[in-house]
Amino acid sequence: MTSSLDDIGNAQEAAKRNLWLHFTRMSGYADSDVPVIVRGSGAYVFDQHGRRYLDGLSGLFVSQVGHGRQEIAEAGARQAGELAYFPLWSYAHPKAIELAQRLADLAPGDLNRVFFTTSGSEAVESAWKLAKQYFKLTGQPERYKVISRDIAYHGSSMGALAITGLADIKYPFEPLTPGGVRVPNTNFYRAPAFVRDDLEAFGIWAADEIERAILREGPKSVAAVFLEPVQNSGGCFPPPPGYFQRVREICDRYGVLLVSDEVICAFGRLGYYFGAERYGYQPDIITFAKGVTSGYAPLGGMLVSDALMEPFSSGTATFLHGITFAGHPVSAAVALANLDIFEKENLLGNVRANEAAFRATLEKLCDLPIVGEVRGAGYFYGIELVKDKATRETFDDDESERLLRGFLSNAVFDAGLPCRCDDRGDPVVQLAPPLICGQEHFDEMEHILRAVLIEAWARI
Ligand SMILES: Cc1ncc(COP(=O)(O)O)c(C=O)c1O
Repeated sequence: MTSSLDDIGNAQEAAKRNLWLHFTRMSGYADSDVPVIVRGSGAYVFDQHGRRYLDGLSGLFVSQVGHGRQEIAEAGARQAGELAYFPLWSYAHPKAIELAQRLADLAPGDLNRVFFTTSGSEAVESAWKLAKQYFKLTGQPERYKVISRDIAYHGSSMGALAITGLADIKYPFEPLTPGGVRVPNTNFYRAPAFVRDDLEAFGIWAADEIERAILREGPKSVAAVFLEPVQNSGGCFPPPPGYFQRVREICDRYGVLLVSDEVICAFGRLGYYFGAERYGYQPDIITFAKGVTSGYAPLGGMLVSDALMEPFSSGTATFLHGITFAGHPVSAAVALANLDIFEKENLLGNVRANEAAFRATLEKLCDLPIVGEVRGAGYFYGIELVKDKATRETFDDDESERLLRGFLSNAVFDAGLPCRCDDRGDPVVQLAPPLICGQEHFDEMEHILRAVLIEAWARI
């Protein structure tokens, strides 16, 4: 049965009855309203009551240029009017060609080939499939395993989930695609005692753990290593100096592909088009999604090196993989208009000029007893919450449940700052605002978080 959703009450009822929210405990809305966001403008979004929120996580690390950009909306509408759809299976269309060329120009080194998807999970899934087929084509059919890091999130489809390092979200779906192997991440705040005081030594140890995993698994069985430039899950772990250079050496030594999963870190999040540029390493594949369109339409993909493409360039070889809506004409047109704004408004320059101020503003929160550390890079920070600053003791399961799910997630939203409160590693609050933000937005975030964290501490 349908009824008018103009009425706020009807919309609530329908949201609760018919809509299934992702990664969401639906029972949480039994006695409270589902938040309904109806429009956006710049760095702000508005709910159905007209209340304004600072978009502290760019939706979901997506809205790089901010909301309400008419030129992007118009580019999408124009394309839908001209050619709404045609597949990239055997055919091309102009906007996919133009976007592929533009992305290849922006990408580091010889990542000249673009395979589009519609999402990040599909991009990761595609990269693993490509690695497997590449090795089958080039006489190393036993290479199929992939190495990734503890707590890292790489997507929710079966293959991407097998690369993900979060046991709790994998367990209900096991057995997953075989071949996922885990190594330590670069959380220096929780580094093992023997490297706790030396960031560089910690980075070398963490990189060498990848080599040890390759040797343990059998070097000829490993296809690829999947790493984010700055790991999101766990709360923004930047790479220690030299980490990626060491990883690249290790991958080269054993003939293993290096995949830079930049679904979050690309398109300005770290002040560069690609995180690999910021940290000075050359991947064999970059996976991307989210910020490529700033969310005005869905799009993902992977950028692939000339060397990986080579066996598919002649004879009968075909990458046996495809997705109906991948590289959709409307999404491609939207992505091009989005990148135009990056250039016109020098958004990378804005992030680079302001990231230190953003960090310094968030670091003011370190005077609170609950704040253990602020870490991250660019417009991408995590604030780790602790029970005891001196010992770095974290919260137990029950406290995390009360603190994060019971209080913080709702409290930051109610206070006007939707952002991420996560305990998939240790409890963290994460911020990743639109790249147009400046000091007044940083101050607003700090102000809201200070009040909410003081209350959280009082509730422990
Ligand atoms: C690093 C990384 N890889 C892959 C994904 C999956 O992307 P999607 O949700 O678009 O499938 C995400 C999503 O947040 C991500 O952060």
